[in-house]
Amino acid sequence: MHAVTPETTALVDMVLDYAHRRILGEQSPLDKPMTPSELRRLASGSISETGIGGRRALALFENVLAPACITTDHPRYLSFIPSAPTKAATAFDLIVSATAVYGGSWMEGSGAVFAENEVLDWLGREFGLPEGSGGVFVQGGTIGNLSALVAARDHRARALAAAGRPRPARWIIVGSAEAHSSIAAAARVMDVDVVAVPVGDSGMLRGEQVRPVLEQHGEAVIAVVATGGSTNFGIVDDIASIAALKSAHDFWLHVDGAYGLAAALDPASRHRFAGVEAADSLIVDPHKWLFTPFDACALLYRDPEIGRLAHTQHAEYLDALTGASDWNPSDFSVQLTRRARGLPLWFSLATFGAEAYRAAIGASIDLAHAIAADIAERPYLRLVRDPQLSVVVFEREGWEPADYAAWSAGLLEEQRAFVVPSSHAGRTNARFAIVNPLTTLDDLTGILDSMA
Ligand SMILES: Cc1ncc(COP(=O)(O)O)c(C=O)c1O
Repeated sequence: MHAVTPETTALVDMVLDYAHRRILGEQSPLDKPMTPSELRRLASGSISETGIGGRRALALFENVLAPACITTDHPRYLSFIPSAPTKAATAFDLIVSATAVYGGSWMEGSGAVFAENEVLDWLGREFGLPEGSGGVFVQGGTIGNLSALVAARDHRARALAAAGRPRPARWIIVGSAEAHSSIAAAARVMDVDVVAVPVGDSGMLRGEQVRPVLEQHGEAVIAVVATGGSTNFGIVDDIASIAALKSAHDFWLHVDGAYGLAAALDPASRHRFAGVEAADSLIVDPHKWLFTPFDACALLYRDPEIGRLAHTQHAEYLDALTGASDWNPSDFSVQLTRRARGLPLWFSLATFGAEAYRAAIGASIDLAHAIAADIAERPYLRLVRDPQLSVVVFEREGWEPADYAAWSAGLLEEQRAFVVPSSHAGRTNARFAIVNPLTTLDDLTGILDSMA
């Protein structure tokens, strides 16, 4: 299995040839899920004592398993948050595997860690964080949010201990009622409470809504989470007004920009993120709108030492790493072994330059505004909110949830588009999340026509 033989050479060639076709060939179809019984019928029995051989295993993947996976980087995949990796990022992801780089420590992966940190430094500068900020690429926004919030609590707990004050009976995380579900998930893991502040029609959390919560809960508040682009609507909280509360209240500001903070790279949208420079921690997911394959989240701390204190794992066998003053990425999140998952972004960014990123992100925002204008003109559709970034949410007059479900299933069945229904305030709606530069206005108007 490990030696270079004619058999393993042929296997590697076959796999690389498949990857080459997938990356550079014609657009893969949208594809669609199969039922467990269909897959059991078509694909079970591949694991055996003697193996079925690479040729058969790859054929099984290519002909049965891959078509049972929806193509998330298809231009008409518009649900959830799509992926849209550049060719360079996808290709480089193969290298990350091929080189078996360990990304957890400087000792083992200094070159990779250096390159990842180049990207993190650049992001920090773009968002206005001070010199010396830093962090790590983690698996995704959920782990990024959790790691940041754990660090925030650790910081507060240490401060209370140093001052000889007791811990509160319950810790609290403050966020908007429209914050991503991963904030509530992090709170459950941490066994802390969430105060979800209602945000009204604008969808934006503002400082004036946060102030009373800070006044009521004081130092029990671990962090205030501002969302830099809500998942459902792409609405950016009023980060500046929340940050302004720091002059009177001592709290940790975390910006969850998993989806939307990439838009701060677009000069035309940067103003929406005013105040992000005051964040104590923030996240942005390259696998969402920075054009890398799954899975990667950039987690940045204003003061990385706080992250290190919270997260460094200590064990005798790790003394060789933790005893040195090196920059070990594993010290900054709830994980130890890690893939150097920031490298595909490093390679793509190094290849094409930041300007190409700014332009591609800006183009999706322009497209979202163009299709919103189109929706507003169609009598059978109603825009739920004006888009800020690249999520557009709309309702079809007279449709019940079952109508949306049937329409959505039909689109996928006919391989026209993947647009799942969403909902807001108890009303079902349709939602376009646009991050793929290959998505066109015609793609979107064609989908709207199908709702007439
Ligand atoms: C605003 C926001 N935060 C966090 C997450 C969670 O990210 P992940 O799915 O990478 O864990 C998402 C995912 O869509 C998101 O949109």
